[in-house]
Amino acid sequence: MSTRRGFLKKSALFSSIAGTLGISSKAFSSNLILKKSNQPIVISTWQHGIPANSAAWEILSKGGKAIDAVEQGVKVPEGDPNVRSVGYGGYPDKDGRVTLDACIMDENQQAGSVGCIEYIKHPISVARLVMDKTPHVMLVGVGALEFALNQGFSKENLLTPQTLKEWEAMQEEFKKKKSIINIENHDTIGMLAIDKNGDLSGSCTTSGLANKLHGRVGDSPIIGAGLFVDNEVGGACATGVGEEVIKQAGCAMVVELMRNGADPEAACKEIVNRINRTNNNSRDFQVGFLALRKDGLFGAFSLVKGFNYAVYDEKGNNMIDSPYYV
Ligand code: GLY
Repeated sequence: MSTRRGFLKKSALFSSIAGTLGISSKAFSSNLILKKSNQPIVISTWQHGIPANSAAWEILSKGGKAIDAVEQGVKVPEGDPNVRSVGYGGYPDKDGRVTLDACIMDENQQAGSVGCIEYIKHPISVARLVMDKTPHVMLVGVGALEFALNQGFSKENLLTPQTLKEWEAMQEEFKKKKSIINIENHDTIGMLAIDKNGDLSGSCTTSGLANKLHGRVGDSPIIGAGLFVDNEVGGACATGVGEEVIKQAGCAMVVELMRNGADPEAACKEIVNRINRTNNNSRDFQVGFLALRKDGLFGAFSLVKGFNYAVYDEKGNNMIDSPYYV
């Protein structure tokens, strides 16, 4: 039975969570109603977000849907052989095989995903078709490849001669460390957009950690880990070491914190904080979250210095450095 003492206990708990997040306890409400943004906006991780945002903006500025914008946007780094962490030209796994992960989520909370897919340059478009044309959310490995080929995608060699040369040269580094922050600093592209109708969608695509074990799947194709969108509240995407993001259900948690009143940066910071605590304050890897709220407010937070993101809104297409743990 609910008592005054129980109520006071709950209030104290909310105040303490609010204090951790740096927000007023008044902001906590399960009935949080956010005004939808009237202005289109697209945000995405890392420097490769700039050309990706431009492609997405082409669609958003003409009144197109956020789901189309986030698909077309991330196809730019997927097709760019100079981006070593996404699609064509991405670093291979330990066996020298390029395996890709991607997912997409729309304003109706529909989702599609592919994990460990080989030979397909645009896994994000395969993920879109999993969402649009199958009763499933996720296809992996050979099954994902067969589905893609049946849908008319072509099989291509994704390992460029330049990437192979670099990967061979890095083998000594790989032996020394669990992970290489400089490589992770050019990680996954995650993208979130709001269209003129005020609807939200998101996408995420990567070749994953360089030199991973064959068959490893990171956070990027896992709905709730590398990406999550709730059209009533907002969306979040993640970058960095996927295992850490998966263990916290990272992006679902960021969105849930926003639902409970945290602003996007505070929500991202709280999940980075949890990852930090469970790793004994280690700073030898990177994770970062980027979040966009229904009303257009955005924010990010990363574990170590170096994460940045691109924002395209009415002010143009600009890079912003993420705050990080010191
Ligand atoms: N965040 C990308 C990965 O860990 O695969």
